[in-house]
Amino acid sequence: MENVKSWKSPRCSLSQVKGVPLLEPTVQNWALVENFRARSDDLLIATYPKAGTTWTQEIVDLILNDGDAEKCRRAPTHKRMPFLELFPVHSLESGVSDLEKMPSPRVIKTHLPIQLVPQSFWDNNCKVIYMARNAKDSVVSYFHFDQMNHIQPDPGPWDQYLHKFMQGQLGWGYWYDHVKGYWREKETKRILYLLYEDMKEVGRERNPRDEVIRVMHFLERSLPDDIIDQIIELTSFSVMKENPMANYSTFPDSLFDRSVSTFMRKGEVGDWQHHFSPEESRLFDEHYEKMMSGTSIPFRTQL
Ligand code: A3P
Repeated sequence: MENVKSWKSPRCSLSQVKGVPLLEPTVQNWALVENFRARSDDLLIATYPKAGTTWTQEIVDLILNDGDAEKCRRAPTHKRMPFLELFPVHSLESGVSDLEKMPSPRVIKTHLPIQLVPQSFWDNNCKVIYMARNAKDSVVSYFHFDQMNHIQPDPGPWDQYLHKFMQGQLGWGYWYDHVKGYWREKETKRILYLLYEDMKEVGRERNPRDEVIRVMHFLERSLPDDIIDQIIELTSFSVMKENPMANYSTFPDSLFDRSVSTFMRKGEVGDWQHHFSPEESRLFDEHYEKMMSGTSIPFRTQL
């Protein structure tokens, strides 16, 4: 691949592509993303940051490999399922370069909002799995991540960070537009829309098993019950936290400062309650109602 520009500074700044703030190296290399050549058997896993991307990736990889844990330990997540819009920064390689070398079928990660997904994915009628997580837990998880991830811009204090999230000023832009964009298109494109909270729920109306089965059907696979049970166990928070091929422990400390936070941090629904003040929660909810009016995505902030 030609002309990939790499980034040497410690933390990236943001600039915009069609009004969406993205990491500077992505913007500098935007033509390579826009002209990315998808293949018809590519599977795209799309999320707003911190929605449970890695969790979804692990479930998908296990389903595609018939629940074989060893096969899924062949390489760390970002090598097995490259990150489309990541460009050389610190020791990380370009997602596009990795993908071009990869044999089919490929599983590709992106955080791009739907309007920035390269056209070739739609021309090839590629399947997309979209995982969404409630806004309050997403922003809390993103805040901790930005503190420890030295690629991301410095998050600054929590109150200012929350404001930036509400104004769509963090990397990948407005959460509200992101979740609504894929929701709107899910009937006209091949998009499976999942909710983090449904995955976490045990018992009652939904549970991880139902969601893993939905993914399996979407991938046109059929696995016996005991393998499905095994996949649920292997993708539980506690097991993934200890799996070096799924917990980002292969990233150097210079990139992920683990003295500040860990990648597999809490994995819970409702952790926002430990971060939002009552006043922040009230203002956030008011703003949320306006931003999400007219949509019916069944988000839950508590189980
Ligand atoms: P927290 O920071 O709330 O713990 P992403 O992969 O999109 O970056 O998302 C990371 C978030 O998903 C983190 O949330 C992480 O702990 C959580 N996560 C990762 N694997 C998980 C799993 N198996 N079960 C539940 N949550 C998981």
